[in-house]
Amino acid sequence: MFKTIKYNDQYLAKILLKRTLLFILFVMTVLFLPWYWSIIRLLYNQWQVGAFNQVNWFMICLPLVISLWVLGYFGWFIPWLYRVYALDHDNLIAHYLSSIEIRQLLSLLVVSKGFYDTDSDEKGQYVKYFPKIRVKFLFKTGQLMIEQPVDGQKYMQQFSKGEFDTAVEIALLADKQTTEFAKNKMTSTFAFEPIKFRRKLLELEARKGVLQVAKGIDWKFDKFYNALIAGNVGTGKSYTMFSIIGQLLTLTKYVDILDPKNSDLASLKHLPELEGHVFSDVNDITKCVADYYDKMMKRAEIMERKKSKGVIGSYFDFNFAPSFLIFDEFGAFTEMGDSLPYGSDERTNFDLAMSKMSQIAMLGRELGFYILIGMQRPGTDSLPTSIRNQLNLRINMGVPTPEVKRMMFPDTQKEFHPLSNDLKGWGFIQSGNEEVRSFFAPEIPKDFNLHEYMREQIAKREVA
Ligand SMILES: Nc1ncnc2c1ncn2[C@@H]1O[C@H](COP(=O)(O)OP(=O)(O)OP(=O)(O)O)[C@@H](O)[C@H]1O
Ligand SMILES: [Mg+2]
Repeated sequence: MFKTIKYNDQYLAKILLKRTLLFILFVMTVLFLPWYWSIIRLLYNQWQVGAFNQVNWFMICLPLVISLWVLGYFGWFIPWLYRVYALDHDNLIAHYLSSIEIRQLLSLLVVSKGFYDTDSDEKGQYVKYFPKIRVKFLFKTGQLMIEQPVDGQKYMQQFSKGEFDTAVEIALLADKQTTEFAKNKMTSTFAFEPIKFRRKLLELEARKGVLQVAKGIDWKFDKFYNALIAGNVGTGKSYTMFSIIGQLLTLTKYVDILDPKNSDLASLKHLPELEGHVFSDVNDITKCVADYYDKMMKRAEIMERKKSKGVIGSYFDFNFAPSFLIFDEFGAFTEMGDSLPYGSDERTNFDLAMSKMSQIAMLGRELGFYILIGMQRPGTDSLPTSIRNQLNLRINMGVPTPEVKRMMFPDTQKEFHPLSNDLKGWGFIQSGNEEVRSFFAPEIPKDFNLHEYMREQIAKREVA
């Protein structure tokens, strides 16, 4: 159900607190009425017999003291519910409290942005125009829908340009997912609990051309070809890659994995099913890149021949399987390559591999030869712009530094905040020019065994 935001909602929590306290005072007074009555009678009797100085004033004041004490307690307890309870509970009370807080915040945002008008008459100032904003909570999915006016009024453009949305994102640490325009209004949907969109590794299901990342966030690799996963040490790049590789292996056997740092991914070379597809030595890597390139060019030739007969389409129209080159620690690779002596065979091969990488990044899309690069800092010194510009799915694990943000998401206005202090495996993702979204990477279980998992994924493909 949508709730309209009003000017007075800026005091919603305060009003609610006052009303609750008044209500409690009222209830206590009614409950204590017999007590008060007996006190009055006692006082009257004492007064009549002239023994007023023998009255026990403490007992007389006791009901009042109790009422004040209970009021004081609730005066502390209710704010505590907002501050502490609502944050780490997921029940009706917690939902009710957060809906109050959010409505209050939305009203405050309208006021602080000045998207309303006042006027005054002899009685004083009054609110002449307050935009028609309505909000709906979807607690189950951790979403919030905010309907905003696009109705020709004075502040229409600020709303339609997303200024209010940006303020909501910052104030609520929420993440805008979609905006839909209808007659006289637009409705933006926000996720204010991104963790509710997290998928579990073992439940991921790849479909043709589509890999799952989080609920509502897929990597459609035919459309947003090539991916880049950046992020500081230990933020979850390699784990995110596991979830992608695992899904790819259910779709195609053409997955090559390169890991010059010889870490987790490289261990896959011990899996017989992946023999000849996993490399960590620099020379093996340059050779693998060259082979990948050659295979791509071969497919280009075949497709060219078909096309010369008038057949049109992309690789999938010709029933070719997609191929993937997964390249973790790309920065380490370029560093190693740059330190090779000029003129040596190794150096020549490295330089060739780098230029082939650019070619694959550029030409691979039509041919179904994709690349996925993982690295800590995607600066031009380690990732040539010719490659970077062709990486259409951008993922940054953790909060990027301003410099990395400019490299990864140059056009976004979004402010990035940490999604969790204790959990790993979250970050920010952008497909093409769509909105940057925060997300949790698929959750990898604690007792996870990389080899077993990949073996099972491969088996799924063989069955299909
Ligand atoms: N999706 C996830 N699910 C569960 N745990 C995760 C996830 N992502 C990361 N972690 C935790 O964070 C740790 C570091 O993750 P990972 O090795 O993927 O980081 P990285 O960015 O590749 O680091 P490096 O730069 O050192 O290679 C993991 O060992 C794991 O404990
Ligand atoms: Mg890693």
